[in-house]
Amino acid sequence: MEEKELVAVNEAEIAVHWQEEEYFHPSSQFVAQANMTDAAIFKRFSLDNFPECFKEYADLLSWKQYWHTTLDTSDAPCWKWFVGGKINASYNCIDRHLDAHKNKAAIIFVPEPEDEPHEVVSYQELYVRVNEFAALLQDFAGLKRGDRVTIHMPMATELPVTMLACARLGVIHSVVFGGFSGQACGERIADSGSRVLITMDGYYRSGKLLDHKEKADAAVAVALKEGQQVDKVLVWQRHRDKYASDTPMVDGRDYLVSDLLKQYRGRRIDAVALPAEDPLFLMYTSGTTGRPKGCQHSVGGYMAYVTGTSKYIQDIHPEDVYWCMADIGWITGHSYIVYGPLSLAATSVMYEGVPTYPDPGRAWRIAEQLDVNIFHTAPTTIRMLRKAGPDEPPKYNYHFKHMTTVGEPIEPEVWRWYHEVVGKGEAAIVDTWWQTETGGFLCSTIPALHPMKPGSAGPAVPGIHPIIYDEDGEVVPTGSGKAGNICIQNPWPGAFQTIWGDRQRYVDTYYARYCKDRNSKDWRDWPYFPGDAATEAKDGYFRILGRVDDVINVAGHRLGTKELESACLMVNEVAEASVVALADELRGRVPDIYVSLKPGHDTGRNIEEEVSKAIEIAIGKIARPRHVYIVPDMPKTRSGKIMRRVLSAISNGTDIGDVTTLANPEIVEDVRKLVQGE
Ligand code: WT7
Repeated sequence: MEEKELVAVNEAEIAVHWQEEEYFHPSSQFVAQANMTDAAIFKRFSLDNFPECFKEYADLLSWKQYWHTTLDTSDAPCWKWFVGGKINASYNCIDRHLDAHKNKAAIIFVPEPEDEPHEVVSYQELYVRVNEFAALLQDFAGLKRGDRVTIHMPMATELPVTMLACARLGVIHSVVFGGFSGQACGERIADSGSRVLITMDGYYRSGKLLDHKEKADAAVAVALKEGQQVDKVLVWQRHRDKYASDTPMVDGRDYLVSDLLKQYRGRRIDAVALPAEDPLFLMYTSGTTGRPKGCQHSVGGYMAYVTGTSKYIQDIHPEDVYWCMADIGWITGHSYIVYGPLSLAATSVMYEGVPTYPDPGRAWRIAEQLDVNIFHTAPTTIRMLRKAGPDEPPKYNYHFKHMTTVGEPIEPEVWRWYHEVVGKGEAAIVDTWWQTETGGFLCSTIPALHPMKPGSAGPAVPGIHPIIYDEDGEVVPTGSGKAGNICIQNPWPGAFQTIWGDRQRYVDTYYARYCKDRNSKDWRDWPYFPGDAATEAKDGYFRILGRVDDVINVAGHRLGTKELESACLMVNEVAEASVVALADELRGRVPDIYVSLKPGHDTGRNIEEEVSKAIEIAIGKIARPRHVYIVPDMPKTRSGKIMRRVLSAISNGTDIGDVTTLANPEIVEDVRKLVQGE
């Protein structure tokens, strides 16, 4: 508790040093073509009209059976949206577009090797592929409505095909980011209870063909250790005619999809009409404690929310070429590469590799070639592109009407480069604040209605009603300049339904903090607590300051400090580990690691490297620390709690503050010298 408050106070101090930024206005051309130019939308979506306002989003979908109850709160805080309705996500992303758009590109896949042709998948082609693969999942893998399947794949056309095939059957997919390790994947297989794993043999990254199938073997072994047997591993191939992995196929367990698919040519599977509150997918994310949380998203509410926000905030029209550079293995990719854009019959571009490979102009060449007009990425990538090639964008003839930034606060300086250089001063920018749990955007400007303000996510999006509370539950007033915990007062259709298999943790983590009455069935008593600190300016724009819990946002994605610390303890010599967030020019934050060793350890070994390796195995390369420091002891409170705050100040070179009340104040100076020098 004590530590949490200190973090919050620090964030508030940061806010004080930030000045107000000037407004930027969208161009008249943008406004003239925008999907949403009517400010009355906020009136329609006011709390007075809640929850019925969300009918407007639900009506963007095709329902097999129309719903009768907008919001059912009887099982609070597990909200049920559009009850009585029956719907299918695959049908909404594919079948319903065939009449008007069957010959239009649904997905354009850009391989990393530049001499390899793009793969253009029309809506008709997507329909065929999804149906055939759904038939395979049903008949060969024996999967049916409600079963879970883990998908561990890189960026490849086969990934959305697999997701949409699952969605067609009502099979709940759990996509694990391809860059995560086999062990991380195995833990998620076990937690979700998947008996089928779908993977790919390899993929290109920075010019190298990586062996991805080897992670499947590790994943299956870890899952089994945790009590979950995987019967079948389905392996897609990166190259049509060759197996791109050195890892052998396991007889009777592993199957090449290309071999199996031959039997399913021409098969069609009716999209299963699912109750709106059936789960569509699980997406795991890190939390304060060790185990990742499987956020469960519904089919009806989620689809309504991502379709509505894709239309009004992303401003997607069917004729747009939309490129979101995120990985589909994160929520951004689910909502804003696959489900939202395809539901609107847009063309969604997928890129396999590194945006600066083979040179810093690559991303802009892709934009020029495909004539992309909507672009979506994260501050960490913007910083990387700016560092690698600050003068590259003007060399290419592309024009973005709209750009998004997401995942972490963007520095106004970086925002201005994005606007002037990447957007050529022409694009409207939205800074979208949301989370894995929320399914879609919470705060953002509506691009044709509000001016942009660098560094601020903007006001809440329609139907979202934030409030900032202080530690004691008092409301922090608008324009006070004070930071507090931002909460959402009302449920919304995109919100996750629960944590898979752990309702208690769902309630405790997201609702307990500011709940007014635990027995209440009234949504007004259950503000949603996302775990971020924020300030609200006089104009109602929110500036998101960062996490208030023990979560590190690395390159726009969440890593739990506890997860990292338990990985460190896998190295036998390590007695204690503590992880802090170090500010990083490109990745925003990176983990800095402190370990103390058991007495009498073998000094000849490279413990630092072993700790880094252990983290890579447990989580993946994304989590690799900047430094691993071996310290004689950790600074601790008298009750024995490690003072992460002190270590964080040492790593970041900020004021260490008062340490006299610690059990071992003398250690602080030793650790400081070790890290910062004399
Ligand atoms: C956390 C959620 C949402 C998709 C990608 C990350 C931070 C997210 C912003 C933004 C400032 C942001 C928050 C949030 N965050 N977007 N526009 N401005 N901070 O999803 O991994 O679930 O992480 O990312 O701290 O809680 P995620």
